[in-house]
Amino acid sequence: MADAESMRLAVMASGRGSNLEAILNAADSGALDMEIALVVSDQGDAPALDRARRARVPSEVLEFSSAPDAYGRQLLRLLGEYQIDVVALAGFMRVLPGSFLQTFPGDVLNIHPSLLPAFPGLNAQAQALEYGVRVSGCTVHFVDEGVDTGPIILQAAVPVGADDDEESLSRRILRWEHRLYPRALQLYAEGRLCRQGRRVRILND
Ligand code: GRF
Repeated sequence: MADAESMRLAVMASGRGSNLEAILNAADSGALDMEIALVVSDQGDAPALDRARRARVPSEVLEFSSAPDAYGRQLLRLLGEYQIDVVALAGFMRVLPGSFLQTFPGDVLNIHPSLLPAFPGLNAQAQALEYGVRVSGCTVHFVDEGVDTGPIILQAAVPVGADDDEESLSRRILRWEHRLYPRALQLYAEGRLCRQGRRVRILND
């Protein structure tokens, strides 16, 4: 369990929420020293919200109906109310506006189901299959103003089998996502991520 000094994390998810669950489990087991203080979704019916309720984590729905900058201001206010230090995007299907990223005092992390910079954007696993790569994987990175372009924190390589389809490859990658994201967040919590331009050094690795 996180102690009183722990960083306060908000997880933002639009859908299923299996990465959220992995993060909650890591915090519960002591592998992640952060308090999951808020779950935010842009979809009122996201299964991720049920996962938050089951874990007794406060959740808020912020629908993406307004202009991006206005959305950013609402989000900023919400994160301020919950005293959030750091945000983890976990299947959040919107691009956060630059005005938000420039103003939020903490960092925003994201997980993407490919070995970036290959296959950014939507349907990364299908893109990988279509391209014919033998290895794909997942990436945890800091969020900048581009789509999946921010400095890379951790990556895991996952083999692509000759018989893989989008579903089987996604499932194999997802198992790694569930290990990688809590690990990256824990490095962040320990203050061991040192950014030097695009490169992220892991201290005491
Ligand atoms: C994951 O594959 C993640 O990498 C991508 O969206 C998916 C979300 O899955 N950004 P879940 O909602 O965490 O189950």
